[in-house]
Amino acid sequence: MSQVQLRDVTKTYGGNQIIHGVSVQIEDGEFVVLVGPSGCGKSTLLRMIAGLEDICGGEVQIGTRVVNDVLAKDRDIAMVFQSYALYPHMTVADNMAFSLKLKGMPKAERAKKVHKAADILGLGPLLDRYPRQMSGGQRQRVAMGRAIVRDPQVFLFDEPLSNLDAKLRVEMRTEIKALQHRLQTTTIYVTHDQIEAMTMADKIVVMRAGVVEQCDTPLNIYDHPDNMFVAAFIGSPSMNFVEGKIVMQGGKPTFASHDGVILPLSEDVQVKDGQPVVYGFRPEHIQLAGSDGIETRISVVEPTGSETMVFMEMGQSSITGVFRERVLEADGAPLFVRPDPARVHLFDPITTKCLG
Ligand SMILES: Nc1ncnc2c1ncn2[C@@H]1O[C@H](COP(=O)(O)OP(=O)(O)O)[C@@H](O)[C@H]1O
Ligand SMILES: [Mg+2]
Repeated sequence: MSQVQLRDVTKTYGGNQIIHGVSVQIEDGEFVVLVGPSGCGKSTLLRMIAGLEDICGGEVQIGTRVVNDVLAKDRDIAMVFQSYALYPHMTVADNMAFSLKLKGMPKAERAKKVHKAADILGLGPLLDRYPRQMSGGQRQRVAMGRAIVRDPQVFLFDEPLSNLDAKLRVEMRTEIKALQHRLQTTTIYVTHDQIEAMTMADKIVVMRAGVVEQCDTPLNIYDHPDNMFVAAFIGSPSMNFVEGKIVMQGGKPTFASHDGVILPLSEDVQVKDGQPVVYGFRPEHIQLAGSDGIETRISVVEPTGSETMVFMEMGQSSITGVFRERVLEADGAPLFVRPDPARVHLFDPITTKCLG
């Protein structure tokens, strides 16, 4: 087990800078998820930690060692890829034991390690099978088994669940999280899926275009996004944004959209009369209201049984609401709603940063 520190790490491919000075501190035993849209540099960063890509600038430290110039095989890390990269001509047991064999570990000791990992992963009865005789989920488990037998300082995962169907993905993410809690091995996990990030991570690093946008616990990121990118990326359906300005009424702040919709604010927000702002609220933070609420027009209603998702027009803005109640009105009908002022996020429309 080890800490991992990234200090001002950069990467350039042929004059094109991909990673722009990333600094992250990962504690011993922590489960950290790097999340961001496709192409933002997650795999590149992970591969630099693994030693599969050169580091152009800055430092990567694993434990007490700066590893910039240490070969991948000497970094004491184990990586699990999206494509499980199993050897097709080897049994499960041989796939799992292969790296130990390369290290020259005696056969009896190898077998012991493989059996222990197989027990942890429920692979015991499958050790004599070949990869082609297994389901996607089972192959994924073998790939993890291959990492576990090495007993590394750090596990690195690059979108390991992307090839699985939705149901299995949910099961495997619970399994990986439970496994990590049990082994307490420092883990860096890459995904583009914000739900995976929210449910698995001790700490989330949100990336965009080679830059860290925010780094915090899942719920802190959800409750206090630093900027509109993070606010929109984390949470599903996405946060609603309405552009407008602050209007003081009798000393109390309210929000007026560009098209004249008035929305509530809590009294203690630190804003000035006339200040341009973006008003952000999550779909689950609006309630159904009586005719004293804000009038919207329903575009589409999507009932899931446990809750109802409603797409609606509020003035000229399209917004989404998620309600515990059922909404039985037809498309095109009016619906009265009210955002919870205590859960509203205000952003600067120019910098897109959270205000206060
Ligand atoms: N070997 C390479 N040569 C040139 N550009 C690359 C190479 N690998 C990745 N890139 C570029 O770096 C960026 C980040 O890629 P990647 O780290 O794979 O993103 P992610 O894993 O977040 O989807 C992309 O724009 C990609 O095209
Ligand atoms: Mg990737």
